[in-house]
Amino acid sequence: MSRTLLRAVATTGAFALAFGLAACASSPAPESEGNAEATDITVGVAMPTETSERWIADGDAVKSQLEEAGYDVDLQFANDDIPRQQQQLDQMITNGADILIVASIDGTALATQLENAASKGIPVIAYDRLINGTEDVDFYVTFDNYTVGVQQAQSLLRGLGFLDENNEDTGQADPKAIEVFAGSPDDNNTKFFYDGAIATLQPYFDDGRITVPSGQIDMDTVSTLRWDQATAQKRMEDLLTSTYAGGSKPLDGVLAPYDGISRGIITALENAGYGSTIEGGLPILSGQDAEIASVKMIADGVQYATIFKDTRKLATQAVAAADSFAKGEEPEANDTETYDNGVKVVPSYLLESDIVVADNIASLLVDSGYWTEEEVAAGVAG
Ligand code: BGC
Repeated sequence: MSRTLLRAVATTGAFALAFGLAACASSPAPESEGNAEATDITVGVAMPTETSERWIADGDAVKSQLEEAGYDVDLQFANDDIPRQQQQLDQMITNGADILIVASIDGTALATQLENAASKGIPVIAYDRLINGTEDVDFYVTFDNYTVGVQQAQSLLRGLGFLDENNEDTGQADPKAIEVFAGSPDDNNTKFFYDGAIATLQPYFDDGRITVPSGQIDMDTVSTLRWDQATAQKRMEDLLTSTYAGGSKPLDGVLAPYDGISRGIITALENAGYGSTIEGGLPILSGQDAEIASVKMIADGVQYATIFKDTRKLATQAVAAADSFAKGEEPEANDTETYDNGVKVVPSYLLESDIVVADNIASLLVDSGYWTEEEVAAGVAG
């Protein structure tokens, strides 16, 4: 929404209507109504962490697109620290945020903050990760998380030779050994990724084409708190010790749900002597987020695949939802069934994702301007 449009909305009185209590709580005194100051809308944007590139890109994209649309933006990163995120949200509300966009660390830890927001009429948009256990989340923008999990498994199956690039069965019958990793247990997305991936692998488990030699497969056992790279590396090291005689038994692939986790696993595998490229003996690894360090590793034949979720498009949906709330309208949802947060089904807008392998880095990531050729070659952003 342009600032002009916001002004027009404000002067017709629709703005006050749209914002109800929020306008009362945060707008300057009525005498300034109608001038530019009074029409300013501040959007508080809470992101989980700057330790992963993905969230830095999300923060940048949301901020710049909101500013372009004429909003004031209060962007905060919480360093994966739950009390810090709670405090940041409290502060945003105190400082007069009119709309909140929140990518939570722990999807169940923000009910108090959101209740406070609701009491002031502040609409809350859950960003990428659903916020659970509360009535007070108004909309959800995300990717089709179950399909992301399906794609992670499909990429693994391609790398192992079971599927071709159209995901058709190749007829390969050679059994393969894999290990399974999942994301953070407090992130609502983790179960969607895991369920999508496991459902896709299940037929291969059932007929013995794929085995998990450690026997560790249930989600709680294979999850990785805070999606932490070092935690994943440690678990892979432990698996190599317990099940692969320190690295001397064959391991063909690892289902990994996020590029940082994949890199931790690759470090453990390299240290145990599995080689430093797939051709040289490294198992097939999946990933997620098309982080630049991993994209380089894919280009170099180290990591097999990742899932590209275009954060620019997610930011665009978040801004569209904010625009709708600013006009007193409901944002457009394309899914009103899937995302039950335990209290209600949150209307959602789901985006599509793509599998990235070495062959389509150029078409998916470089041609779209997500990464430049130089960044891919260097493995570093900017
Ligand atoms: C996001 C993923 C990301 C993960 C770790 C999830 O909630 O959906 O894209 O890889 O968090 O940051």
